[in-house]
Parts: sequence; C-alpha cells; structure tokens
Amino acid sequence: MPWCIFPADKGQHMIRISDFTFQYDSGRTPALQNINMTIADGDFVGIIGNSGAGKSTLTYAMNGVIPGFYRGDYYGSVEVNGMDTVETRPEIIASHVGSVFQDIDAQMVASVVEDEILFGLENFGIPHDEIEGRVTEALAACGIEDLRMRHIDTLSGGQRQKVAVASIVALRPRMIVLDEPTGELDPQSSEQIFALLSDINRVYGTTIVIVEQKIALLCAYARKLAVLDHGHLAFFGPVREVLANGRAMESLGIHVPRIVSLHQALSERGWYQGTAPVNMDEAERMAREAMQ
Ligand SMILES: Nc1ncnc2c1ncn2[C@@H]1O[C@H](COP(=O)(O)OP(=O)(O)OP(=O)(O)O)[C@@H](O)[C@H]1O
Ligand SMILES: [Mg+2]
Repeated sequence: MPWCIFPADKGQHMIRISDFTFQYDSGRTPALQNINMTIADGDFVGIIGNSGAGKSTLTYAMNGVIPGFYRGDYYGSVEVNGMDTVETRPEIIASHVGSVFQDIDAQMVASVVEDEILFGLENFGIPHDEIEGRVTEALAACGIEDLRMRHIDTLSGGQRQKVAVASIVALRPRMIVLDEPTGELDPQSSEQIFALLSDINRVYGTTIVIVEQKIALLCAYARKLAVLDHGHLAFFGPVREVLANGRAMESLGIHVPRIVSLHQALSERGWYQGTAPVNMDEAERMAREAMQ
C-alpha cells in the first residue's frame, strides 16, 4: 500500500510557479509580484519574510486557495503536480496538497479531536478498515494520544496546532504546506513537529513547504529556503547558499540565526573560510577552527 494516494509523476515538479503576480480584490498593491519558483517532488522548503511579505499568500497559491477561494487579479501560472490551479477544482488540489493554515481555528470543523481527524479521512474516502490505524498513528506521531477525546475548544493554542498537524498527517498527502504551525508551541514541541515532518519527508518522500518564524530551527531541517520581501522572492535556493546572503537578509530586516551572523563576522575578518553553519554541530566546528 503506497503512503499517499497520488504519487507524483516521475521527474515532475511538485510545484511550478511561473511569472506569478496576485493582487487581492481588496488590495491596493500586489501581494505577490512576478514569482518564479519550482519545488521538486520530495523537497523540504522553508519560507521566511517579514509580516505582510506574502508568505501566506504564497502558500495559498500552492494549495489552490488562490484562485479557488480568494479572488483578485491573477497573472502567470501555478502548477501542482502538473495540474494548473486555475483549471483544476480546489478539492482535487486539496487531495494532493494537505494544508495547515495560519488561522487553525478557521480550519477546524469538529468539536472533538478524534472527529477532527476522522472528518478528513472520511471526506477523502479512506477505506474504513484503515481509518483506526491512521488516527492512532497520527495522534502518536504528534504526541497527543491523550487528547483524542478532548473537546477542541478546551485545548491550548499549541495543542490545537498539534491537532491540525495530526489531521493533515493522517491524510498522507503527497505534499504538506504549513503556515507557521509552531507559532504557539514551546521550543521542545516545535522541534517535535519539525522532527515529525523531517521523518515523513525522508521516509515517504512527502514534499514539505513550511512558513516559520524560528529561522534557526527551520535552517536545521529545511533543504531550501525562500525569502520573501514585499511580495518579491528575494532569495530562493539551498539553505546554505541563501544564508550566505546574511548581510543582505539583515538589510531586509530579517534576523538571521546567530550562528550565521557569527559566521559572517568570522569570514569578514578572514578567520574562517568555510560555508555558513546550519546546525549547532557545524557551528561548534566553525568556532573551534576559528580559535585555532
Ligand atoms: N484576504 C486578504 N485580502 C486582502 N489583502 C490581503 C489578504 N490577505 C493578505 N492580504 C495582504 O497581502 C499582503 C501579503 O499578506 P500575507 O498574509 O500573505 O503576508 P504574510 O507574509 O503571511 O504576513 P504574516 O507574517 O503577518 O502572516 C499584505 O499586504 C496583506 O495585507
Ligand atoms: Mg501569514
């Protein structure tokens, strides 16, 4: 039994965004301008940028919420697994791309945790004999087995975020888009969510796209980084290459991880020649080498 219902076609890009510009009907300027990016099947992409930079709008372009739900002036094209999002019904896109929205309360449909997870599984026609296994597995993966029978309105913001992630993970889509899913979680729970996404990505090849404020955490897990600035894609590429633009990112008002600032300072003084570290092990190696 494959992990997901719709495997990507071989060699197909999961997401292809071409010359994409979008202005909300009620907006005065485009929320996104001339975006070009492709995301390979199985990639793990982090999106960062200041408030209002267009991060959520970019996720809406990838999961069909634009043009399915939000209307506006739309230029260029977005393809999801080879399907043009203008020509494809939103529920078809949703069966390929699972979404955890920034406003998770708006996404919750049930009043009890178990029903929230069951709703999606039944909606997508998952066979009955598979459902119990999927619910148990998703709850365990998010560390919330004890919340199974709880009423959602009695949960903390962080617990609700874990429920939202569990209900998408249970669906086993080909790609998961998450918009700040750890905003209300403590560092340990945030790390747990990233470790889970990383496992799913590695074991099943699920494409992950995640908007995240905790840049150091993001850089430790993501393979690529997209930096948005006032609706423009300022940088997009492998994490290390994007972090090499630390100074430029800081000038956009984006706080790069401290280990990247340290790398920048050491490089500028000629004390270290290596690439920017993306985790604490690499940072330690850099510090040792610079002190020799
Ligand atoms: N539903 C909407 N209708 C009209 N304008 C919108 C809508 N949603 C977002 N915008 C505008 O589009 C631009 C991009 O917003 P978006 O929510 O994508 O940014 P963001 O990077 O996700 O910000 P945040 O970090 O605050 O979540 C902003 O100028 C915002 O005001
Ligand atoms: Mg947002």
